[in-house]
Amino acid sequence: MKTIALLPALLLLGACSTAQKETATTPPSLKDAFADSFLIGAALNTDCTNGLDPATDSLVSLHFNSIVAENCMKSEKINPSEGVYEWDDADNFVNYGTERGMKIIGHTLLWHSQLAPWFPLDSAGNNVTPDVMKQRIANHISTVMTRYKGKIHGWDVVNEAILEDGSYRKSPFYEILGEEFIPFAFSCAAAADPDAELYLNDYSMASPAKRETYLKIIADLKARGIRIDGIGMQGHMGMDYPDFAEFEKSIEEYGKAGVGVMITEWDMSALPTVNQGANVADTTAFNKLLNPYPDGLPEDIDREWNERMGRMMDMFMRHADVITRVTAWGTDDSKSWKNDWPMKGRTEYPLLFSRSLTPKPFLNKYLNK
Ligand code: XIL
Repeated sequence: MKTIALLPALLLLGACSTAQKETATTPPSLKDAFADSFLIGAALNTDCTNGLDPATDSLVSLHFNSIVAENCMKSEKINPSEGVYEWDDADNFVNYGTERGMKIIGHTLLWHSQLAPWFPLDSAGNNVTPDVMKQRIANHISTVMTRYKGKIHGWDVVNEAILEDGSYRKSPFYEILGEEFIPFAFSCAAAADPDAELYLNDYSMASPAKRETYLKIIADLKARGIRIDGIGMQGHMGMDYPDFAEFEKSIEEYGKAGVGVMITEWDMSALPTVNQGANVADTTAFNKLLNPYPDGLPEDIDREWNERMGRMMDMFMRHADVITRVTAWGTDDSKSWKNDWPMKGRTEYPLLFSRSLTPKPFLNKYLNK
């Protein structure tokens, strides 16, 4: 009798303590901390989205509500030869985000780097004619976007089209089609998926000359009735760049131009600067002196790094009315491309999470608010 009468009470107690335990052990998440301000994203490599990295999966599932493909949607991967598409990794990436209800970002449709070698060339190895280039761009954009129609929140349609001095990069797209390659690409993208957001994305966005050219491009697209939804400011930074005031001015000016602003590839090198910006082709041979902290960041550098990141995050929060997403280019420090760029084999500390998967201190004030 007694035992039976006690049972419901015991069950209830059990349920209570489980619930308490869950509340006590669910750590605060970045996506909740920034829910009223902007999406918070991370670039993922294929280990995570192919199910080979459960620790990163847990971190991403807890903290992020947006993801971008670090490499698997670039043309050399997804469209390595004419008419040949390798979908497996990209499909897994899109399924990963869909299953977790995340805003999925496609990166990137047209980029001079990691460009499939066949793309701009004819069978003799010469640049194709403008007509053939247009056909190839139209096919590539329409095939890739159509496959993921309705699943991708936004696409980096064109990546890194402009140089720091404000001139157009002499990419194969530009060499063959001139400035017109950008409006053409955006028209193709808008036709392929009317519901996906369409972005221009670039690094060194604090450069006033670069800013002026992007403002002109935005105005030109809008004047011609071609849709552009946002500007991605990559946000690859270091301990002595960018100029914070100029970076903030770019956020403001893009906002005023009537497009969404995103920080799309945020990271801040804690190591001596080898070169500013993020031009993937600018690499330097390994030099021990430029890899000063292989066993951990000294306290003063760590403090300074966190202070700079905190100031940046405060800047993003000040402009939450125009900033729609802040995405880190990787998850924890061990996953950053900066361990191998611009110098292979350095130990870097540029991301939001340490190698032990703990959030960096500058995030505490947001996480514990
Ligand atoms: C980087 C990836 O992180 C690396 O794994 C790859 O080897 C090179 O490209 N700007 C971009 C990104 O738009 O696509 C680049 O990603 C980093 C610079």
